[in-house]
Amino acid sequence: MLAELKIWLLLLSFLVVSSNMQLHVQAVPQVPCFFIFGDSLVDNGNNNGLPTKAVSNYPPYGIDLPQGPTGRFSNGLTMVDILAQILGFDKYIPPFANLASSDILLGVNYASAAAGIREESGSHLGVRISLDKQLVNHGITFSRITESLGSKDSATQHLNKCLYYVGMGSNDYINNYYMPQNYSTSQNYTSEQYAEALITQYGNQIKTLHSYGARKVAIFGVGPIGCTPFAITSHGTNGSLCVDTINLDAQLFNKKLVSLVDQLNKELTDAKFIYVDILGIGSGDPSLAGFKVANVGCCPVDEIGQCICSKTPCQNRSEYTFWDSFHPTEAANKISAARSYQNFLKTDTYPMDISHLIKL
Ligand SMILES: *[C@@H]1O[C@H](CO)[C@@H](O)[C@H](O)[C@H]1NC(C)=O
Ligand SMILES: *[C@@H]1O[C@H](CO)[C@@H](O)[C@H](O)[C@H]1NC(C)=O
Ligand SMILES: *[C@@H]1O[C@H](CO)[C@@H](O)[C@H](O)[C@H]1NC(C)=O
Ligand SMILES: *[C@@H]1O[C@H](CO)[C@@H](O)[C@H](O)[C@H]1NC(C)=O
Repeated sequence: MLAELKIWLLLLSFLVVSSNMQLHVQAVPQVPCFFIFGDSLVDNGNNNGLPTKAVSNYPPYGIDLPQGPTGRFSNGLTMVDILAQILGFDKYIPPFANLASSDILLGVNYASAAAGIREESGSHLGVRISLDKQLVNHGITFSRITESLGSKDSATQHLNKCLYYVGMGSNDYINNYYMPQNYSTSQNYTSEQYAEALITQYGNQIKTLHSYGARKVAIFGVGPIGCTPFAITSHGTNGSLCVDTINLDAQLFNKKLVSLVDQLNKELTDAKFIYVDILGIGSGDPSLAGFKVANVGCCPVDEIGQCICSKTPCQNRSEYTFWDSFHPTEAANKISAARSYQNFLKTDTYPMDISHLIKL
């Protein structure tokens, strides 16, 4: 297992290096376009102008990026930035908020920190772009592409060829279900009922995305939200590495998500949906992948778990899995991106990885 992992890490370096090389030779990307629906794990600036505490366009966020803070919740690149590199794009997919200056035919990033499947999730932090609103924004993109290509048919044909990243659900737990003082969901639903309600709503939202022409959709499950430094400090782990009860809820949600993927593949036979097991990818022994610190973040944090403005973070960022109390470092994002693109363990993705999805 250890030897296998070392081999894989070599492959990973190769993958990342070769994708950097593609930035220079400007190879044609493996897909013509890439659209992103999500939360703070992949937000790249959509919250910057919004009245909310869930913003990150201040130092030390972005400390390892040439352009500095951008609204990414990491020291460096997010998972979708790295996926865009691996796919051969010569720039990152721009945020919807900056659309005026960008080429929408290549894709748009709609992700918004604190956003959820449910409309109200994250509302105690301020304004956020829920998944329903992200889909409304995609409708605007659809109209613009229709205008640009001349007809709805050509817009749909173009959108058929793109890859779609969809990753929601964390905030429906962290910034909703686990905050009984601000949200009533935990009074109204058991864990089982809540997961079921979320998946029903999510399924309808993904069908809306399909109605706009999405045919290659990678759905990322909820990650190990019981292992975040915030969960560990606020709940305690009772001797475990993580807060097991929280990870059990994430597992419950993900299990139902896998069934949803099966159901979507059965119902919508002109499209393919895959599941990415971010919970599994983020579990296991982090030291095997070269990490030394997994239970605390790299930057000093405020009461909501975000980096305190201009406080000096740790030096060895590649040795930390967490950057602040919720969000992975670029080093951890690289591993998630690489394993979603190309399986390391068979269980990383279902029923296939992104490299196979885009070849269909
Ligand atoms: C959330 O709950 C806390 C604790 O009861 C309260 O102080 C705070 O005002 C609430 N926030 C909102 C936006 O309702
Ligand atoms: C919970 O139930 C109460 C009473 O039926 C209702 O007023 C409230 O809107 C419900 N909350 C949620 C989040 O469904
Ligand atoms: C803590 O762990 C012990 C031993 O596994 C278990 O008996 C106990 O119920 C746990 N307590 C909580 C609060 O989870
Ligand atoms: C960074 O890592 C190096 C090598 O592992 C170690 O010698 C050094 O003490 C670390 N620095 C900090 C600030 O942790």
